[in-house]
Amino acid sequence: MRKIRLGVLGSGSGSNYQALHDAISRGELDAEIVMVMSDIPQARILDRAQAHGIPQAVIDCCGFASKFPESAQRSVAQTMLGTGADLICLAGFMRLIKRPLLDAFPQRVINIHPSLLPAFPGLAAWQQALDAGVTETGCTVHYVDEGMDTGPIILQEKVPVLREDDAHSLHQRIQQAEHRLYPRAVDLLRVRLLG
Ligand code: GAR
Repeated sequence: MRKIRLGVLGSGSGSNYQALHDAISRGELDAEIVMVMSDIPQARILDRAQAHGIPQAVIDCCGFASKFPESAQRSVAQTMLGTGADLICLAGFMRLIKRPLLDAFPQRVINIHPSLLPAFPGLAAWQQALDAGVTETGCTVHYVDEGMDTGPIILQEKVPVLREDDAHSLHQRIQQAEHRLYPRAVDLLRVRLLG
């Protein structure tokens, strides 16, 4: 079986991108990251990709603060198709994906979210978990549909909420789980898509 080719979209630090990269470097994930794109020109994910020698590009969202305009989605789809990506991995990408990109990659766009979906969709899911007073939360890898964190679930990992947790400590513990879960989920899809 050949390596699965990954296109990654992120808006922030890119630690989940880094986890995928590290799993590949350690020989635990038979994949190749072919492109990293970000809607934030100064996002650290782009610096990480540059340091790894992976092609990267900034997505022009036409000045919109949170909307992901159709023209931008079409351009991302075209770029990603041009790289031969098999799977699009959202790694902290903070805009809602719609038809142009989903149609170009049917059942091939996945996301990692810092809660046990369907609980706590949307922003700052770790803070939502603290506010709700739950004793357990986690992270989810799921297929992306047009909703907000609503697509079919692929894998989840549970994380305990400790009495002394604040937003930072809880998010850190969830991220440690994310960094284990995302490579596992991509490996599962590698077999589903290429096997
Ligand atoms: C991650 O915790 C990811 O689950 C979350 O953003 C963070 C990005 O971190 N995504 C969402 O909340 C999407 N709804 P990273 O840039 O270090 O990977």
